Amino acid sequence: MAKRRFTVTAALPYSNGVLHVGHIAGCYLPADIFVRYLRSRGDEVLFICGSDDHGVPLLLAARQEGKLPREVADFYRAQQKRDYDGLGIRFDIYSGTAAAEVHTEISQRFFLKLLENGHLEKRTSEQLYDPEARMFLPDRYVEGICHHCGTGGARGDQCEACGRLIEPTELLQPRSVITGATPELRETVHWFFRLPEFEGRLREWIRGKDDWRPMVKNFSLGLLEQGLPFRSITRDLDWGIPVPLEDDPDAKGKVLYVWFDAPIGYVSFTEQWCREQGGEPGEYERWWKDPDCKIIHFIGEDNVIFHVLTWPAMLMAEGTFQLPENVPANCFLNIQFPGEDETKISKSRGTAIWINDYLEQYEADPLRYYLTMIAPERQRTAFKFEDLIRRNNEELVAALGNFVHRNMTFTHRYFAGAVPPCAAPTEQDRAQLAMAAGLPDRVSALLEGYRFKEALQEVMAAARESNRYFDYRQPWVLRKEDKAACGTVINVCLNTIKTLAVVMGPFLPFAADKVAAMLSATPQEMAWDAAAGLLPEGRALGDPEILFEKLEGPAPDDAAAGVPHERSAGD
Ligand code: MF3
Ligand code: ZN
Repeated sequence: MAKRRFTVTAALPYSNGVLHVGHIAGCYLPADIFVRYLRSRGDEVLFICGSDDHGVPLLLAARQEGKLPREVADFYRAQQKRDYDGLGIRFDIYSGTAAAEVHTEISQRFFLKLLENGHLEKRTSEQLYDPEARMFLPDRYVEGICHHCGTGGARGDQCEACGRLIEPTELLQPRSVITGATPELRETVHWFFRLPEFEGRLREWIRGKDDWRPMVKNFSLGLLEQGLPFRSITRDLDWGIPVPLEDDPDAKGKVLYVWFDAPIGYVSFTEQWCREQGGEPGEYERWWKDPDCKIIHFIGEDNVIFHVLTWPAMLMAEGTFQLPENVPANCFLNIQFPGEDETKISKSRGTAIWINDYLEQYEADPLRYYLTMIAPERQRTAFKFEDLIRRNNEELVAALGNFVHRNMTFTHRYFAGAVPPCAAPTEQDRAQLAMAAGLPDRVSALLEGYRFKEALQEVMAAARESNRYFDYRQPWVLRKEDKAACGTVINVCLNTIKTLAVVMGPFLPFAADKVAAMLSATPQEMAWDAAAGLLPEGRALGDPEILFEKLEGPAPDDAAAGVPHERSAGD
């Protein structure tokens, strides 16, 4: 296949909290798997992420902790970075919307371009004001009854029950989430994005996407069916990107809405990366405006509306950007503790497993493995820590690790640690080699379709089949009867291990690196296209190493016991 170019992004997490397993399963791990796979194939990829530093929850968290918003953002961004590093999730850049210097300018230019192109409208409107907190209430801080579906407890941006966008003033029986006060209407001026103008183009564009996940496509088309509202894209706040209209007194004290500047962060971080590589200003365009470069946004289900409707509409309105090629979204991950019901992952209720806690006790690969095997690609699934332990022991250790280990030790004990010749392969030996040789294409086809769980299942099925081959051929018996045949079996197994190591690389990068070292394999030998290439006979192997440790519970930290466990303010 010809080499391709990709800009891959993973949703920017808010920097007012640490990461839990749900974040990782949602978009960071699939994005990392995809990027590692593309790189292994030799495609050119830029993998962009960073924190979403603006917005009201962070502002309120800072107020509560007596810190500056910037300090809170810097603190959590640094912790998030450590978590991703520990899990082997390797972005080219992990920046932040308050950390990237170019972000202010790029967001402001984007806003001005929309204004210039006639897609914004200034409107005086009445907004809900909390007289006790003495501030206009941000969307999520007004609670009330959804006027679409009548569900109570809906927040003023989106109704969780019916998924529709809401303007806070549309909520019935509104109250302030901050103080509980009944908000009053006050006049304020804001800029609105004429989102309805893009309904037709969005519909055409989405309809043409045959390879998108049905959930993403149907949900978005459903929202389009109901019609899109004008969206206010500015706020009365002192934390965010200032509205860049110095001559307009109405712009005083206004910042861009967090959902306006956040996706632009993808572009700003790209530009920051380019400059850090010594590039000239504007080089981000190569990753965002070139039709030969495919843009892929990995997100969680709650972000579909923003990445499939509002952000692409912004890009259309701006006029010079490419639209995303695909927006693979995962559903939420629930969690289940022993003897309890499946529940949502929640910071405030303490029903979460935090990445930093996990990494203090365990290796990254077992978590990467388990989260991919239960990936909520089509529907919500539940994380059960005891299942992670069990699947590590029964699958990673007993199938994959065991196959590698038994062959490595056998080679060291009976073949002086060198790859024996494939002297006279039997039909079974050839069948095993053919099974392994076909594996990269089978895994590729699934990965290209964003089917990460099935792709990993394919790898594991191959590992189990390889163990059956080993057991069937009984090299420990052959060793005494027919040393050449025994060598052939081990040769076939070592070559299978090499193929397995390449295809497991995107999922289990730490283990794959260990196998590469054991096989004394070069990076070229470990490239995707070379996965089925044979190891030279006589190649001296490295020392056998344990790939996966057998684990015993318990779940990290007190979260498993359901003990509430505050990590930061806000939920
Ligand atoms: N911070 C948002 C969330 O966690 C995601 C922002 S994605 C971006 O839901 F596109 F806006 F950057
Ligand atoms: Zn509703």
